[in-house]
Amino acid sequence: MKNTWRFGGNELKYLREVVDSGFGSGTSGSMNNRFEQAFAEKTGAKYAVTFNSGTSTLHAALHALDVNAGDEVIVPPLTVISNIDVIFAQNAVPVFADVDKDTFNIDPADIKRKITPRTKAIMPVSLYGLSCDLDPIMDMAKEHGIHVINDAAEAHMAVYKKRPIGNIADITSYSLENSKHITTGDGGIVVTDNEEFAIKMRKFGSLGYAAMKSGDGRIRINKDIFQDPAYKRHDTLGLNYRMPEVAAALGLAQIERIEKFIDIRIKIASLYKEAIGKCSYLVPQYVPEGYVNTYWCYTVKYERKDVSWQDFRKKYIEFGGDGIYAAWALSYLETLVLSKAYKKRAPYYYKDIDYGTAGLCPAAEAIQPTLMQFVTNYGSEDEYLPKVEALRKTIKYFK
Ligand SMILES: Cc1ncc(COP(=O)(O)O)c(C=O)c1O
Repeated sequence: MKNTWRFGGNELKYLREVVDSGFGSGTSGSMNNRFEQAFAEKTGAKYAVTFNSGTSTLHAALHALDVNAGDEVIVPPLTVISNIDVIFAQNAVPVFADVDKDTFNIDPADIKRKITPRTKAIMPVSLYGLSCDLDPIMDMAKEHGIHVINDAAEAHMAVYKKRPIGNIADITSYSLENSKHITTGDGGIVVTDNEEFAIKMRKFGSLGYAAMKSGDGRIRINKDIFQDPAYKRHDTLGLNYRMPEVAAALGLAQIERIEKFIDIRIKIASLYKEAIGKCSYLVPQYVPEGYVNTYWCYTVKYERKDVSWQDFRKKYIEFGGDGIYAAWALSYLETLVLSKAYKKRAPYYYKDIDYGTAGLCPAAEAIQPTLMQFVTNYGSEDEYLPKVEALRKTIKYFK
């Protein structure tokens, strides 16, 4: 099927501009800057920096917050593996805080229990489109002189207690991978109001070029200075995590229509909710008063015991539904962790760590196997109405 709804705006126009520019060498060009400015404006943050994924954004954010070997970072276990991968990449230590059984997001009360003198940052995740409970997290961070990275990979334009989430945490990170609210194919973007963090993140994502600024990806400020054998280009550690100009062209066109993408996801979620109606064994993610969930997907706990999770899914597909997605295994139960493979990275700092095989985060362990994620990534009624109907039929079938 031709997927025109996704890229029905200025995508081709901006791509044409990039191709026609012939790619100026060694610069991140103007399309990245245009996309960054448009994204910062939409999210209400001062600075935005593009990356090649919503994983490299998180890595750069840790670097900006000076998270290094042996530092602890508090993170929920119910999330994509990226969160702990980037912590391990800094030779830092993931410390898992449990989630709330109703919102599925990290529980501030457990964060409080997990803070130690070695805690350097908190990395909550705003899961499935719903903001995490930011106020108590920000208060705790302030009290302890540490910082917060809100992983909003799945929560573009979400609202927390009537406030847009984009400038509440010290750094907010977004993914632009295919399934996200807006996409550049693969990609990521971070926003912050802190100029120092913006500079550090930009430099980290671009080989630590000394000349980089918070709002400008240019590497060569002055050709005569740069093209001098004595000139030293790199003043900090960095990797190449830059977003290509062609991807930024897509991003710019997509951000222009983000409200449309968000509205349709919210509408699809409301139709799933309607289909579930009074069905007591499908329990949707709880959205507290004053929050707007932008529904990267519509997630429910499946609480029925006499029909298995898999059988419910199978029947839903038979009735024309999309494959319901399962939640990730909890990070500390992934083979990477259970096998202790990560310990090779920094044996000194990891020698005493043992997350065990059960009991660390009881709420997350209880809900993870029950979660069913219904797809909201559709552009037209022709696509989503049959899925909603399939859910209705499945519920009726198992009555
Ligand atoms: C919560 C969360 N964090 C981080 C990421 C990583 O983003 P990316 O796939 O762009 O690296 C994703 C997306 O997969 C995600 O869902």
